[in-house]
Amino acid sequence: MLDEYFLSELKNRNPIEEVVGRYVALRRRGRNIIGLCPFHTEKTPSFTLYPENGSFYCFGCGVGGDAIRFVMKAENLEYMEAVRLLAERSGLEMPDNGYDDTQRRTRLKILEINRESARFFNRLLSMPEGKTGLDYIHSRQINDNTVRRFGLGYAPAGWDTLTKHLLAKGFTPSELTAAGVSITGKDGKRVYDRFRNRMVFPLIDLRGNVIAFSCRKIDPEDKMGKYINTNDTLVYKKSRNVFALNLAKNSGADSLILCEGSMDVVMLHQAGFPNAVAAWGTALTSDQARLMHAYTEKIVLTLDADEAGQKATERAIKLLSDEGLDVRVVQIPNGKDPDEFIKSCGKDGRDRFRALIEGAGSDTEYRLFKAMDGININTDEGRTAFLRNAAAVLGSLQSPIERDVYAGKLASKFSVSKDAILNEAKRVYDSKQAERRKKEMREAVAPPSTDRVNSQRRANERAANAEEGLIAVLLRNPDFLRWIGDELPPEQFSTDFNRKIYTLLLNRYAEGLSTDISLLGDGLTPEEIGRIVQIQVRESGRANTPEECRGCARVIKEEKQKIPASKAEEMSDEELRDYMQRLREQKK
Ligand code: CTP
Ligand code: MN
Repeated sequence: MLDEYFLSELKNRNPIEEVVGRYVALRRRGRNIIGLCPFHTEKTPSFTLYPENGSFYCFGCGVGGDAIRFVMKAENLEYMEAVRLLAERSGLEMPDNGYDDTQRRTRLKILEINRESARFFNRLLSMPEGKTGLDYIHSRQINDNTVRRFGLGYAPAGWDTLTKHLLAKGFTPSELTAAGVSITGKDGKRVYDRFRNRMVFPLIDLRGNVIAFSCRKIDPEDKMGKYINTNDTLVYKKSRNVFALNLAKNSGADSLILCEGSMDVVMLHQAGFPNAVAAWGTALTSDQARLMHAYTEKIVLTLDADEAGQKATERAIKLLSDEGLDVRVVQIPNGKDPDEFIKSCGKDGRDRFRALIEGAGSDTEYRLFKAMDGININTDEGRTAFLRNAAAVLGSLQSPIERDVYAGKLASKFSVSKDAILNEAKRVYDSKQAERRKKEMREAVAPPSTDRVNSQRRANERAANAEEGLIAVLLRNPDFLRWIGDELPPEQFSTDFNRKIYTLLLNRYAEGLSTDISLLGDGLTPEEIGRIVQIQVRESGRANTPEECRGCARVIKEEKQKIPASKAEEMSDEELRDYMQRLREQKK
């Protein structure tokens, strides 16, 4: 644990506006300073600095914290590394004791090991021992230029060729296993190669570090999985990286082509699509979506046509459009993946794939296409069934113009009356609207939880406001922590997040620790710290008095007595209407 005196000195020497100013163009607005958030894509600034308390908060993505948090996120560093960086920049000496930098050293070692391994795998391709690998790469029609561009390689068939090579370079067995290139044998002592007799795709991150490997089997008799990939390590999180984004981001294209596999990406780049990337497998994550969004507004999805691929496509469409990306879906004929498709077209591969991309439908077209699944469109029943499904798709569209356009397309394609389709779509739309209105009415009493930090906030607005008011007052007046805990036990809080913060403050006070926001630190996510900053700012108008505290405490207790909002879910419509009527009367 770092000395608190050291930390506050560090903070004084690194004003938030100076620290952030190195990364973000800032301008003053009133008491605060604003800029474009470096952590999500935005066109109007919602990223705000509060020089008074040395913190930042983004109203767009909810990330916030102090200077240390900012550097951690901006530079992708561990807490201690960020502290060290700020200390160095401001000429402050790190205290010798209590500072453990083994993790930092291991990270650097892993990066070195990865780089050396990638070089080793790649060099083998030009040696006799690597012939199997090179033959395989050629059999997949990958040319030398592409091999170089991606740094492809071959992991040899022996048990410990790479491991021996790295040990000879001075790396230790535990460093090799930490990097994920070696594994420990059954005896618990010997280490040997994790990737054997495989073609290697290195994953290179946006700073040019080799952070992981994906290795495809070559021998059909190989009993292990088709692909073996690096598991998460100190330098690699699968859910936060996208293969070939390091190359694709510089392609100059206005979109990214998202495929399932590295082989597809490599083949697409070779065929003239340098904006292809892969998420390595089917389960795309929202972190990956956000990462891609930093470089493009448009994603062309080309996931496989098999069942897993189709499911993944539907998930991906939702994830990517929730992230605000424009999603197009490429349907590759005959269930091929991009690699197979390109090859099956011979020298026309490039043109034919371009044609597919240009004809890529919007997500609505994709859903209409899916509405045909399992239906024989040539029979009358089939057509009726399809049009009913299609109307359901159109009925989910908000825009009448969009409904009209697609109804027109369907009408001419299936020679049915456009009005008939539109009427059916309208019926679906209206019933959805009615459903929505009903839901809204319910939500007026029990709002849904879309607040990710404090999911109970909206259902307990009055309680949450008082809880947050109290937290803000306590942050400014830690001396009140001496008695408030006795008057208001944490159980009285209605929302778990605020209770957690309140308990944290009480505990830290009891242990004689500082309650300064920059020291609440560990154990809280940047979003959670962001919320605390936001609370502090929003509730800054409250008085610094015990009466203010007690006023909040009173409301918190009052609210705790009321019926929980979740009860409202179970009420009948009549009960609900009565209840709302009573609420309205109370307000008057
Ligand atoms: N994958 C994986 N582990 C497996 C199978 C697949 O991690 N056992 C991931 C790999 O990243 C792979 C992607 O899922 O690239 C798609 O899998 P698949 O379609 O089976 O492989 P292809 O990319 O088509 O590879 P190939 O053409 O060499 O068969
Ligand atoms: Mn394939």
